[in-house]
Amino acid sequence: MKITIIGSGYVGLVTGACFADLGNTVICADNDEKKIDMLGRGEIPIYEPGLEELVKKNKAKGRLVFTTDVKKATRDSTVIFVCVGTPPREDGSADLTGIEKVSRTVAESMDAYKLIVEKSTVPVETGEWVKDTINRFKTNDCDFDVASNPEFLREGSAIKDFMNPDRVVIGVESEKAGEILKALYEPLNTKIVVTSIKGAEIIKHASNSFLATKISFINAVSNICEKVGADVTSVAEGIGLDRRINTHFLKAGIGFGGSCFPKDLKAFIHISEKLGYKFDLLKEVDRINEMQKDLLMEKIARLVWNIRDKEIAVWGLAFKPDTDDIRSAPAIDVIRRLVKEGARIRVFDPAAMERSMEELKVEGIKWCKDIYETSDGADCVILMTEWNEFKEVDWDKLKKILRQPVIIDGRNLYDPGKLKAMGFRYAGIGRN
Ligand code: UDX
Repeated sequence: MKITIIGSGYVGLVTGACFADLGNTVICADNDEKKIDMLGRGEIPIYEPGLEELVKKNKAKGRLVFTTDVKKATRDSTVIFVCVGTPPREDGSADLTGIEKVSRTVAESMDAYKLIVEKSTVPVETGEWVKDTINRFKTNDCDFDVASNPEFLREGSAIKDFMNPDRVVIGVESEKAGEILKALYEPLNTKIVVTSIKGAEIIKHASNSFLATKISFINAVSNICEKVGADVTSVAEGIGLDRRINTHFLKAGIGFGGSCFPKDLKAFIHISEKLGYKFDLLKEVDRINEMQKDLLMEKIARLVWNIRDKEIAVWGLAFKPDTDDIRSAPAIDVIRRLVKEGARIRVFDPAAMERSMEELKVEGIKWCKDIYETSDGADCVILMTEWNEFKEVDWDKLKKILRQPVIIDGRNLYDPGKLKAMGFRYAGIGRN
């Protein structure tokens, strides 16, 4: 099939490269000239394992092209995936001006049947607005369908997630649209859930909100564990081995971040309220997530006493491993708070240093080349991101270079018994 992807950001690029790899011809369009120039040269503006190779390979085979001409790209394909950003507004609602603009562009340039597929995460009833906008602005009397096909890609494993999904969700209102999308996903040989457009839009928000709820639930349980000296990791295992619950997304820690969970949770709360339902359960999920950072600050103070003038080694900045993404990363927030309280920070992350330097333009941060440089003379280590390379630590060496042997393990990565036996003061999340 010939497909056009409008919006060559994270979702658009991964979707485009993967569809091309499945043998389709894909046009990736974006009005950001700098980005399209870069992609045209085979340079990838984001860090995602395997993406560069996939883009290069499919570009070379002529199956993947990049353009800034969104109108022509619309005319050239029957299926148009809309992958533009839907950033959060002040009040937590999703900013849908990008979706509206694309709808108008499509309306003004279509000259034959088009299937317009929402891929970006949007609140329920966006499909209605897209349809209405196209009807109002179309200059030719052509037929069209709108569909919703949410993405469930995780950063760091996006290509694997696209190629081996648990399910594909298709929200359609016509048989024709359903058949086109089913044919497109057929090579993935996976379960396809066909529902209404509104159903598919809700599935995306509800999935992310449910996963966020699991994390906040176990974080709440971790606080009970801490109070009585139980270990949340074994509690989570005991809960999760019940197949109805399962063990995924039950890792207690300093809270979820990233470009999706915090934003989608707030957007779902907002749209629910707009529709007349107060989703207080999700408000609590959000509050628990924020509280995890307050509790971490309390833990630091409990272990090093006054934070002012302390040297704090921060291991990890990205919101999770295998990405350079620091959007809503707990580490960034915690560093800001520590600096405000007068601490000096020494920090290292294997991928997110550059982005963090741009973000954290504050005095009192030393950017280091590895975890040992961060720890040299530090009063406390805080593990914020569970990078693989942080798993193996030369603890003897570390103990010698730290001023105080204090480890706060924000991701429960280390063995508390072993560290305590070596003379470290250890605090995890939901285990002491
Ligand atoms: C998420 C969804 O998983 C994906 O389906 C959706 O399309 C986009 O949002 P992503 O943001 O890339 O993907 O990261 P994910 O791996 O889901 O982790 C999100 C956050 O939750 C991270 O900050 C992670 O550290 C945290 N997390 C995850 C926990 O704290 N505990 C867990 O058990 C799992």
